[in-house]
Amino acid sequence: MKTPRRKKEWFDDESFWRELYPFMFPEQRFAAADEQMAQAVALTKPAGKSVLDLCCGPGRCSIALAKKGFSVTAVDRTKYLLEQARAKAGSARAKIEWVQKDMRDFVRADFFDLVLSMFTSFGYFDNQRDDLVVLRNMLASVKLGGACLIELLGKEHLAKIFQPTISTLLPDGTIVVQRHEIFDDWTRIRNEWLVVKKNRVKRFKFHHRVYSGQELRTLMAHAGFVGVKLYGNLDGDAYGPSAERLIAIGRKAK
Ligand SMILES: C[S@@+](CC[C@H](N)C(=O)[O-])C[C@H]1O[C@@H](n2cnc3c(N)ncnc32)[C@H](O)[C@@H]1O
Repeated sequence: MKTPRRKKEWFDDESFWRELYPFMFPEQRFAAADEQMAQAVALTKPAGKSVLDLCCGPGRCSIALAKKGFSVTAVDRTKYLLEQARAKAGSARAKIEWVQKDMRDFVRADFFDLVLSMFTSFGYFDNQRDDLVVLRNMLASVKLGGACLIELLGKEHLAKIFQPTISTLLPDGTIVVQRHEIFDDWTRIRNEWLVVKKNRVKRFKFHHRVYSGQELRTLMAHAGFVGVKLYGNLDGDAYGPSAERLIAIGRKAK
């Protein structure tokens, strides 16, 4: 199928991912992937070894899964991050299929035992119909009875920790200032991040949709998932008041 032409959006800006790479993907986050993937596998119990890591970024989860013997297809739109991923996989001697594609365009019908969307890689589009397209693609790509797992920062926790401005000092002296604003009646968040490196400032603006547990579950059911379950972490604890992440797992009916 021909890939549709799309208008440029904030996530198409490679410099956003390049400049924020040290902030988003520090070594500790890579190191955490081994345990996260063991937990994701324990929660979803895939029947086979074929996994799709949708919006794989620099390959944290893909590499951790490949090391566990899974056959991984990793999809991302950002060339810079796929290059980082390839290099990291090379050092780890992990064989992975890398695909540069928009999450709205990737479908491989009835192919995967497990489909993952990790670390708030969902809700990036202005129109919620695009989120629904992504869910339908995930569902189409998983085998009958297989699971799709989405892991993100849920609205309930965001409301609890929300701060209009946060500033972080990175080990190399770079300062990242994050400014946040909730808009569209608590459905979306608008972010302005300033990266201050020596005397140079770079400014990035982006926005995404924020989902409550119930909203994500409803949209997944609307996309055709069955038995959608919510968890507050990858250990499988309840999505309750102390949940720091929102994990939704839905299955394709057998
Ligand atoms: C927060 S990162 C998460 C990376 C990875 N899942 C992880 O756990 O480390 C979000 C990723 O989504 C990718 N992305 C953003 N918009 C996309 C789109 N429309 N289609 C495919 N990938 C996209 C970005 O390139 C980035 O790698």
